[in-house]
Amino acid sequence: MKDFASLNEKDPVGEMLSKLSALWVSRAAVNNEQTPYSELAFNPAKADFSESLLPFRGHDAWRDAPAEVKEKCLSYAWVIYNLKTIYIECNVVTPACEDIIKSPPVNSQNREILQSVMAEALLDEALHTKMSISASNYIYHHRQLPYLDYCDFNLIGWRNALLSSCTAEWQRRLTRFGIACASETLITDYLKTMAEDSSIQTVCHEVTRTHAMDEWSHSSVFSFVAIDIVSQLSTSEKVYLHEVIKKTVSMFANNEMGAWRKAFSLAGLEGGEDIVADVGDMGEINVYTGSVNSLLARVGLESVGAGPVLACGGGRG
Ligand SMILES: [Fe+2]
Ligand SMILES: [Fe+2]
Repeated sequence: MKDFASLNEKDPVGEMLSKLSALWVSRAAVNNEQTPYSELAFNPAKADFSESLLPFRGHDAWRDAPAEVKEKCLSYAWVIYNLKTIYIECNVVTPACEDIIKSPPVNSQNREILQSVMAEALLDEALHTKMSISASNYIYHHRQLPYLDYCDFNLIGWRNALLSSCTAEWQRRLTRFGIACASETLITDYLKTMAEDSSIQTVCHEVTRTHAMDEWSHSSVFSFVAIDIVSQLSTSEKVYLHEVIKKTVSMFANNEMGAWRKAFSLAGLEGGEDIVADVGDMGEINVYTGSVNSLLARVGLESVGAGPVLACGGGRG
Protein backbone atom coordinates (compact mmCIF):
# COMPACT_ATOMS: atom_id res chain seq x y z
CA MET A 1 0.00 0.00 0.00
CA LYS A 2 1.29 3.47 -0.89
CA ASP A 3 1.96 5.95 1.89
CA PHE A 4 0.63 9.53 1.78
CA ALA A 5 3.91 10.97 0.51
CA SER A 6 3.99 8.76 -2.58
CA LEU A 7 0.26 9.17 -3.19
CA ASN A 8 0.73 12.93 -3.33
CA GLU A 9 4.19 13.22 -4.83
CA LYS A 10 2.96 15.36 -7.74
CA ASP A 11 0.82 17.70 -5.69
CA PRO A 12 2.68 20.36 -3.65
CA VAL A 13 -0.24 20.88 -1.23
CA GLY A 14 -0.48 17.15 -0.56
CA GLU A 15 3.29 16.97 -0.14
CA MET A 16 3.33 19.79 2.42
CA LEU A 17 0.42 18.29 4.37
CA SER A 18 2.21 14.93 4.41
CA LYS A 19 5.32 16.61 5.85
CA LEU A 20 3.24 18.41 8.50
CA SER A 21 1.52 15.14 9.37
CA ALA A 22 4.91 13.41 9.77
CA LEU A 23 6.06 16.24 12.08
CA TRP A 24 2.87 15.94 14.14
CA VAL A 25 3.93 12.48 15.34
CA SER A 26 6.89 13.91 17.27
CA ARG A 27 5.90 17.59 17.72
CA ALA A 28 2.31 17.61 18.99
CA ALA A 29 1.71 18.03 22.73
CA VAL A 30 -0.77 15.14 22.58
CA ASN A 31 2.11 12.82 21.62
CA ASN A 32 4.43 14.04 24.37
CA GLU A 33 4.22 13.66 28.11
CA GLN A 34 3.18 16.86 29.92
CA THR A 35 4.68 18.00 33.21
CA PRO A 36 2.03 17.41 35.92
CA TYR A 37 0.77 20.71 37.35
CA SER A 38 1.60 19.44 40.84
CA GLU A 39 5.28 19.71 39.88
CA LEU A 40 4.94 23.37 38.84
CA ALA A 41 5.10 25.44 42.03
CA PHE A 42 2.27 27.92 42.61
CA ASN A 43 3.60 31.36 43.52
CA PRO A 44 0.86 33.54 45.11
CA ALA A 45 2.94 36.67 44.48
CA LYS A 46 2.95 36.15 40.71
CA ALA A 47 0.09 37.45 38.53
CA ASP A 48 -2.00 34.81 36.76
CA PHE A 49 -2.26 36.86 33.56
CA SER A 50 -0.27 39.50 31.64
CA GLU A 51 -1.67 42.92 32.60
CA SER A 52 -0.46 44.31 29.26
CA LEU A 53 -3.25 42.32 27.55
CA LEU A 54 -6.11 43.88 29.51
CA PRO A 55 -8.13 46.19 27.24
CA PHE A 56 -8.87 48.48 30.21
CA ARG A 57 -5.34 48.67 31.67
CA GLY A 58 -5.22 52.47 31.15
CA HIS A 59 -8.67 53.18 32.65
CA ASP A 60 -8.70 55.24 35.88
CA ALA A 61 -10.98 52.76 37.71
CA TRP A 62 -8.42 50.02 37.05
CA ARG A 63 -5.38 52.14 37.91
CA ASP A 64 -6.97 53.27 41.20
CA ALA A 65 -8.09 49.77 42.27
CA PRO A 66 -6.48 48.13 45.34
CA ALA A 67 -3.77 45.54 44.59
CA GLU A 68 -5.80 42.60 45.93
CA VAL A 69 -8.78 43.44 43.69
CA LYS A 70 -6.46 43.73 40.67
CA GLU A 71 -4.96 40.37 41.55
CA LYS A 72 -8.42 38.77 41.55
CA CYS A 73 -9.24 40.41 38.21
CA LEU A 74 -6.01 39.00 36.73
CA SER A 75 -7.04 35.54 37.92
CA TYR A 76 -10.42 36.01 36.24
CA ALA A 77 -8.61 37.23 33.12
CA TRP A 78 -6.96 33.80 33.04
CA VAL A 79 -10.36 32.14 33.48
CA ILE A 80 -12.00 34.21 30.69
CA TYR A 81 -9.02 33.63 28.39
CA ASN A 82 -9.32 29.87 28.84
CA LEU A 83 -13.09 29.86 28.55
CA LYS A 84 -12.88 31.72 25.24
CA THR A 85 -10.17 29.28 24.12
CA ILE A 86 -12.45 26.34 24.98
CA TYR A 87 -15.30 27.86 22.94
CA ILE A 88 -12.96 28.38 19.98
CA GLU A 89 -11.72 24.78 20.19
CA CYS A 90 -15.15 23.17 20.66
CA ASN A 91 -17.52 25.46 18.74
CA VAL A 92 -15.32 26.85 15.96
CA VAL A 93 -12.41 24.53 15.11
CA THR A 94 -13.92 21.11 15.90
CA PRO A 95 -16.96 21.43 13.56
CA ALA A 96 -14.69 22.49 10.65
CA CYS A 97 -12.36 19.53 11.24
CA GLU A 98 -15.37 17.20 11.35
CA ASP A 99 -16.71 18.56 8.03
CA ILE A 100 -13.50 17.58 6.25
CA ILE A 101 -13.09 14.26 8.04
CA LYS A 102 -16.68 13.16 7.34
CA SER A 103 -16.92 14.58 3.84
CA PRO A 104 -13.61 15.64 2.25
CA PRO A 105 -13.72 18.18 -0.63
CA VAL A 106 -15.09 16.53 -3.75
CA ASN A 107 -12.52 16.18 -6.58
CA SER A 108 -9.55 16.83 -4.30
CA GLN A 109 -6.58 14.60 -5.04
CA ASN A 110 -5.54 15.09 -1.41
CA ARG A 111 -8.62 13.50 0.15
CA GLU A 112 -6.86 11.06 2.48
CA ILE A 113 -4.20 13.43 3.79
CA LEU A 114 -6.85 16.14 4.33
CA GLN A 115 -8.81 13.72 6.52
CA SER A 116 -5.66 12.69 8.32
CA VAL A 117 -4.39 16.19 9.23
CA MET A 118 -7.86 17.27 10.34
CA ALA A 119 -8.15 14.21 12.60
CA GLU A 120 -4.74 15.11 14.07
CA ALA A 121 -5.85 18.72 14.65
CA LEU A 122 -9.01 17.40 16.33
CA LEU A 123 -6.91 15.36 18.76
CA ASP A 124 -4.76 18.43 19.50
CA GLU A 125 -7.83 20.59 20.17
CA ALA A 126 -9.27 18.00 22.56
CA LEU A 127 -6.04 18.13 24.55
CA HIS A 128 -6.03 21.96 24.50
CA THR A 129 -9.57 21.94 25.90
CA LYS A 130 -8.44 19.58 28.68
CA MET A 131 -5.39 21.79 29.38
CA SER A 132 -7.58 24.92 29.58
CA ILE A 133 -10.07 23.34 31.97
CA SER A 134 -7.31 21.99 34.24
CA ALA A 135 -5.37 25.25 34.25
CA SER A 136 -8.49 27.29 35.10
CA ASN A 137 -9.43 24.94 37.93
CA TYR A 138 -5.85 25.04 39.20
CA ILE A 139 -6.13 28.83 39.60
CA TYR A 140 -9.67 28.64 41.07
CA HIS A 141 -8.36 26.16 43.64
CA HIS A 142 -5.21 28.05 44.62
CA ARG A 143 -6.92 31.47 44.75
CA GLN A 144 -10.14 30.16 46.34
CA LEU A 145 -12.28 32.14 43.86
CA PRO A 146 -16.01 31.79 43.12
CA TYR A 147 -16.64 30.28 39.66
CA LEU A 148 -17.31 32.53 36.68
CA ASP A 149 -19.64 30.92 34.13
CA TYR A 150 -20.12 32.66 30.79
CA CYS A 151 -21.27 31.45 27.39
CA ASP A 152 -22.09 34.59 25.35
CA PHE A 153 -18.80 35.14 23.53
CA ASN A 154 -19.29 37.47 20.57
CA LEU A 155 -17.32 35.31 18.13
CA ILE A 156 -19.61 32.36 18.87
CA GLY A 157 -22.84 34.40 18.74
CA TRP A 158 -21.85 35.97 15.40
CA ARG A 159 -20.93 32.56 13.97
CA ASN A 160 -24.28 31.09 15.01
CA ALA A 161 -26.19 34.03 13.53
CA LEU A 162 -24.24 33.86 10.27
CA LEU A 163 -24.83 30.11 9.95
CA SER A 164 -28.56 30.48 10.55
CA SER A 165 -28.80 33.19 7.89
CA CYS A 166 -27.16 30.96 5.24
CA THR A 167 -29.49 29.66 2.56
CA ALA A 168 -27.32 26.95 1.02
CA GLU A 169 -25.15 24.13 2.34
CA TRP A 170 -22.04 25.40 0.48
CA GLN A 171 -22.37 28.68 2.39
CA ARG A 172 -22.71 26.91 5.74
CA ARG A 173 -19.68 24.77 4.99
CA LEU A 174 -17.54 27.73 3.84
CA THR A 175 -18.69 29.73 6.88
CA ARG A 176 -17.61 26.95 9.25
CA PHE A 177 -14.30 26.54 7.45
CA GLY A 178 -13.57 30.27 6.98
CA ILE A 179 -14.12 31.19 10.65
CA ALA A 180 -12.06 28.19 11.79
CA CYS A 181 -9.26 28.89 9.32
CA ALA A 182 -9.02 32.56 10.40
CA SER A 183 -9.22 31.58 14.09
CA GLU A 184 -6.39 29.07 13.66
CA THR A 185 -4.19 31.89 12.38
CA LEU A 186 -5.37 34.46 14.94
CA ILE A 187 -5.06 32.17 17.96
CA THR A 188 -1.28 32.19 17.59
CA ASP A 189 -1.30 35.98 18.08
CA TYR A 190 -3.80 35.56 20.92
CA LEU A 191 -1.47 33.15 22.75
CA LYS A 192 1.84 34.89 21.92
CA THR A 193 2.13 37.44 24.76
CA MET A 194 1.25 34.95 27.49
CA ALA A 195 3.51 32.30 25.94
CA GLU A 196 6.46 34.71 26.08
CA ASP A 197 5.74 36.27 29.49
CA SER A 198 7.73 34.25 32.02
CA SER A 199 6.92 36.73 34.84
CA ILE A 200 3.39 35.31 35.19
CA GLN A 201 2.32 32.20 37.13
CA THR A 202 4.38 29.23 35.88
CA VAL A 203 1.37 27.04 35.07
CA CYS A 204 -0.28 29.83 33.05
CA HIS A 205 2.91 30.48 31.11
CA GLU A 206 3.63 26.79 30.46
CA VAL A 207 0.08 25.90 29.36
CA THR A 208 0.00 28.83 26.94
CA ARG A 209 3.47 28.05 25.59
CA THR A 210 2.55 24.41 24.93
CA HIS A 211 -0.67 25.46 23.24
CA ALA A 212 1.09 28.12 21.13
CA MET A 213 3.57 25.57 19.78
CA ASP A 214 0.72 23.37 18.51
CA GLU A 215 -1.08 26.37 17.03
CA TRP A 216 1.97 27.44 15.01
CA SER A 217 1.60 24.14 13.22
CA HIS A 218 -2.20 24.34 12.93
CA SER A 219 -1.92 27.68 11.23
CA SER A 220 0.18 26.00 8.48
CA VAL A 221 -2.09 22.96 8.30
CA PHE A 222 -5.22 25.09 7.88
CA SER A 223 -3.49 27.30 5.30
CA PHE A 224 -2.63 24.30 3.11
CA VAL A 225 -6.09 22.81 3.56
CA ALA A 226 -7.48 26.22 2.53
CA ILE A 227 -5.32 26.26 -0.63
CA ASP A 228 -6.82 22.89 -1.59
CA ILE A 229 -10.37 24.08 -0.92
CA VAL A 230 -9.94 27.47 -2.63
CA SER A 231 -8.56 25.83 -5.78
CA GLN A 232 -11.98 24.26 -6.36
CA LEU A 233 -14.17 27.28 -5.59
CA SER A 234 -16.12 29.43 -8.04
CA THR A 235 -15.53 33.20 -8.01
CA SER A 236 -18.58 33.97 -5.87
CA GLU A 237 -17.61 31.26 -3.40
CA LYS A 238 -14.10 32.76 -3.14
CA VAL A 239 -15.59 36.22 -2.52
CA TYR A 240 -17.79 34.75 0.21
CA LEU A 241 -14.89 32.96 1.93
CA HIS A 242 -12.75 36.12 1.73
CA GLU A 243 -15.51 38.09 3.46
CA VAL A 244 -15.97 35.50 6.21
CA ILE A 245 -12.23 35.38 6.96
CA LYS A 246 -11.95 39.20 7.06
CA LYS A 247 -14.96 39.60 9.33
CA THR A 248 -13.65 36.97 11.76
CA VAL A 249 -10.81 39.35 12.74
CA SER A 250 -13.07 41.91 14.40
CA MET A 251 -15.13 39.22 16.13
CA PHE A 252 -12.01 37.46 17.36
CA ALA A 253 -10.55 40.72 18.72
CA ASN A 254 -13.76 41.57 20.60
CA ASN A 255 -13.07 42.64 24.20
CA GLU A 256 -15.87 40.41 25.54
CA MET A 257 -16.93 43.02 28.10
CA GLY A 258 -19.96 40.88 29.05
CA ALA A 259 -17.58 38.35 30.58
CA TRP A 260 -15.64 41.18 32.23
CA ARG A 261 -18.80 42.62 33.79
CA LYS A 262 -19.20 39.30 35.65
CA ALA A 263 -15.52 39.22 36.62
CA PHE A 264 -15.59 42.79 37.99
CA SER A 265 -18.64 41.96 40.08
CA LEU A 266 -17.07 38.76 41.49
CA ALA A 267 -13.75 40.52 42.20
CA GLY A 268 -15.49 43.55 43.80
CA LEU A 269 -13.93 46.12 41.46
CA GLU A 270 -15.36 49.56 42.16
CA GLY A 271 -16.04 51.39 38.90
CA GLY A 272 -16.34 48.11 36.97
CA GLU A 273 -19.53 49.32 35.26
CA ASP A 274 -17.72 52.52 34.17
CA ILE A 275 -15.00 50.40 32.57
CA VAL A 276 -17.61 48.31 30.72
CA ALA A 277 -19.33 51.46 29.46
CA ASP A 278 -16.09 53.26 28.48
CA VAL A 279 -14.02 50.50 26.92
CA GLY A 280 -16.55 49.09 24.44
CA ASP A 281 -16.42 45.97 22.32
CA MET A 282 -13.74 46.66 19.78
CA GLY A 283 -10.39 45.19 20.78
CA GLU A 284 -6.93 45.84 19.42
CA ILE A 285 -7.68 44.71 15.91
CA ASN A 286 -4.29 45.84 14.60
CA VAL A 287 -2.66 42.94 16.43
CA TYR A 288 -4.52 40.57 14.11
CA THR A 289 -4.96 42.36 10.80
CA GLY A 290 -1.46 41.61 9.47
CA SER A 291 -1.78 37.87 10.14
CA VAL A 292 -5.11 37.56 8.41
CA ASN A 293 -3.94 39.54 5.36
CA SER A 294 -0.97 37.16 5.05
CA LEU A 295 -3.36 34.22 5.32
CA LEU A 296 -5.54 35.61 2.49
CA ALA A 297 -2.43 36.06 0.33
CA ARG A 298 -1.11 32.56 1.13
CA VAL A 299 -4.33 30.81 0.19
CA GLY A 300 -4.95 32.77 -3.02
CA LEU A 301 -7.78 35.03 -1.84
CA GLU A 302 -5.90 38.34 -1.68
CA SER A 303 -6.93 39.57 -5.11
CA VAL A 304 -10.50 38.30 -4.90
CA GLY A 305 -11.77 41.31 -2.96
CA ALA A 306 -14.64 41.33 -0.56
CA GLY A 307 -18.24 41.87 -1.60
CA PRO A 308 -21.45 42.57 0.31
CA VAL A 309 -22.13 38.86 0.63
CA LEU A 310 -22.53 38.21 4.35
CA ALA A 311 -26.30 38.38 4.05
CA CYS A 312 -25.81 34.81 2.75
CA GLY A 313 -28.05 35.18 -0.28
CA GLY A 314 -27.51 33.73 -3.73
CA GLY A 315 -26.14 30.44 -4.94
CA ARG A 316 -23.07 29.05 -6.64
CA GLY A 317 -21.78 31.19 -9.45
FE1 LIG B 1 -5.92 24.75 20.14
FE1 LIG C 1 -5.74 24.78 16.62
